[in-house]
Amino acid sequence: MKLPTSTLFAAIVLAAVHVPAQAGANDREVARGRYLVQVSGCNDCHTDGYMPRSGKVPEAEWLQGSGMGFAGPCGVTYASNLRLIVQDMSAETWRAHARAERRPPMPWFNLARMSDGDLNAIYRYLKHAGPAGVPAPTAIAPGQPIPTAHIVFVPQPPSGTVPVTAAAKE
Ligand code: HEC
Repeated sequence: MKLPTSTLFAAIVLAAVHVPAQAGANDREVARGRYLVQVSGCNDCHTDGYMPRSGKVPEAEWLQGSGMGFAGPCGVTYASNLRLIVQDMSAETWRAHARAERRPPMPWFNLARMSDGDLNAIYRYLKHAGPAGVPAPTAIAPGQPIPTAHIVFVPQPPSGTVPVTAAAKE
């Protein structure tokens, strides 16, 4: 097929203008995803050491999941390696997956209310961060031995009353 030179020229100019515009939109979505995972608390559980180190974990280590178990009446769960699980998902699959009911302490009921736009931004961020780390251990049924370090996530009754003198000082 022979195209007039002017058409070819227009196509080249359009392509040149279009590519950076798209790259810019993707960068903005990645930046928004980075912001969302920070402020909505995903790192708190899905990044090893994030809470004890007050968030001072290099970004390259973010969202690789954790081998620290959460033990409770439902057994033991582990925050998944989000960077690995997202790899074979389309954005649509990710959104459905992210909104599905999970075991404690995953706040799935909050994630279920996240907008398509916000979930897409987190998806873009995870894809941008790329696969890293190893899959988190498999969840353990109640009553089974626990081969990893774990936090016991069970409400406790009050263990006593505050002495009057200590309370009065406050
Ligand atoms: C309080 C800890 C905690 C926080 C905060 C948290 N998660 Fe989780 N998340 C978990 C745990 C534990 C699991 C595993 C639950 C299970 O086994 O049913 C999980 C599972 C998931 C899954 C399912 C993964 C799989 O293996 O299929 C997704 C997706 C997910 N979390 C995304 C997020 C995102 C996005 C955020 C931030 C908005 C977030 N989580 C915040 C603890 C947490």
